[in-house]
Amino acid sequence: MAELIEHLRWDEDCLLLLDQTLLPTKTDFLKINCIEECWEAIKVLRVRGAPAIGVAAAFGMYLGLRTLNSADWSASEFVEEARKNADYLSSARPTAVNLRWAVDRIVRLIEAHPKETIPQILDIIKAEAISMIAEDNEVCKAIGRHGVTLLKDGAMVLTHCNAGGLATARYGTALSPIYAAQEKGMRVGVFADETRPLLQGSRLTAYELQRAGIPVTLICDNMAAMVMAQKKVDLVIVGADRVTANGDFANKIGTYGVAILAKEHGIPFYCATPLSTIDMSLAHGGSIPIEERKSEEITHGFGRQTAPDGINVFNPAFDVTPHRYVTAFITERGVVKPPFEKNLSLLFGS
Ligand code: MRU
Repeated sequence: MAELIEHLRWDEDCLLLLDQTLLPTKTDFLKINCIEECWEAIKVLRVRGAPAIGVAAAFGMYLGLRTLNSADWSASEFVEEARKNADYLSSARPTAVNLRWAVDRIVRLIEAHPKETIPQILDIIKAEAISMIAEDNEVCKAIGRHGVTLLKDGAMVLTHCNAGGLATARYGTALSPIYAAQEKGMRVGVFADETRPLLQGSRLTAYELQRAGIPVTLICDNMAAMVMAQKKVDLVIVGADRVTANGDFANKIGTYGVAILAKEHGIPFYCATPLSTIDMSLAHGGSIPIEERKSEEITHGFGRQTAPDGINVFNPAFDVTPHRYVTAFITERGVVKPPFEKNLSLLFGS
């Protein structure tokens, strides 16, 4: 596997995060010392990507709770405070279910240890957050092992946004099959959509793949149709922020358009997703909360004003791709084909 950036790790007493808003020109690590700094880092996308914000928020739970003076808190008050912190961290970004999944996991862990002292439970929470990094690495590598079976030598993959190492703890979801192919000595290239408005494709995917020695060609979002029409794309692989029980899924705005284009051109369209991104409590994609972000991301996206003063702006950060466009999901448990309603539920043992 390529040597990927360790952009998120626990360092003695704080969370160290690579500030992704500064990439690709600066690699500055931030020390996150408290829950408010963690919330801010998630909100402004210093750390982003569904699995990565989940892991960061697990550390945020620890950072929030460790400030409590243990003598003054009963076990039930401590759980109550944990629930409040979980709601606070989840409020930073609503679409990716991994954030809620991770903070709820910490709350459940606390509930499962009612007899421990607060210093003991804090150690347990910290250990759990640290273990979530290793767990995410294993999950992503497994996605890579299953996904690589869909690639032929010489394949060209189109991807949208960044579902690479920078979006997870280290190895990525949509890009993991590409790293697995590289490890096997296969030649695989990538078209990276630049991904307006925040340019995760050009700032992060192009950076990450180039650094890993994978041939990558950057295109603007509105070029995908032409590249497909010219038969330059063999398959599409994207990530997900939330998959619902019927196989609809939310991912970075623009993904839905790419899915329609892929279908029109007869190109397989895959969504790589860990089970932690699958929300079986929602029947279909219409129920996924879609984050809307500030208009300046569009009107001042390139460091200068690019739209008239006072213009009306609509800036949804994600869209929902209906399941009928999805050829298969690539998960850590294998490649899941339609019918999704049945086959996704089998992943969860029902
Ligand atoms: O707004 P972002 O950068 O957090 O959006 C990220 C995406 O849409 C990714 O494709 C998704 O989180 C999958 S990450 C493995």
